[in-house]
Amino acid sequence: MERAGDETFEVFITDTGESFRCGAGQTLLGGMERLGRKGIPVGCRGGGCGVCKVHVTAGEVRCRKMSRAHVSAEDEARGIVLACRCRPASDIRLAVIGSMDKAFLKHAQAGGAR
Ligand code: FES
Repeated sequence: MERAGDETFEVFITDTGESFRCGAGQTLLGGMERLGRKGIPVGCRGGGCGVCKVHVTAGEVRCRKMSRAHVSAEDEARGIVLACRCRPASDIRLAVIGSMDKAFLKHAQAGGAR
């Protein structure tokens, strides 16, 4: 019989169409990294940089306290969270929001206007 701590949930990343299994005791980011998967940008892993920000569109997560500099109370109420601070509590679907790279690339492709 499975103990509660051994439970794993399916995490589906809508941007890439990929999914991975994440343990209930692991953060979404940690679970992804442990399997060598990609999809959610990895930064400080400690809630400080905001690059791992995701929008949980289905399912439930349990989050540790998150910096209001990165996730406002309204964001959190809408399911916008930091993947390095949250663990799955059910199968979930998420969309990646916090990619510094994407923002940077867009800026660069736009000609780097200041
Ligand atoms: S990786 Fe820096 S806030 Fe999550």
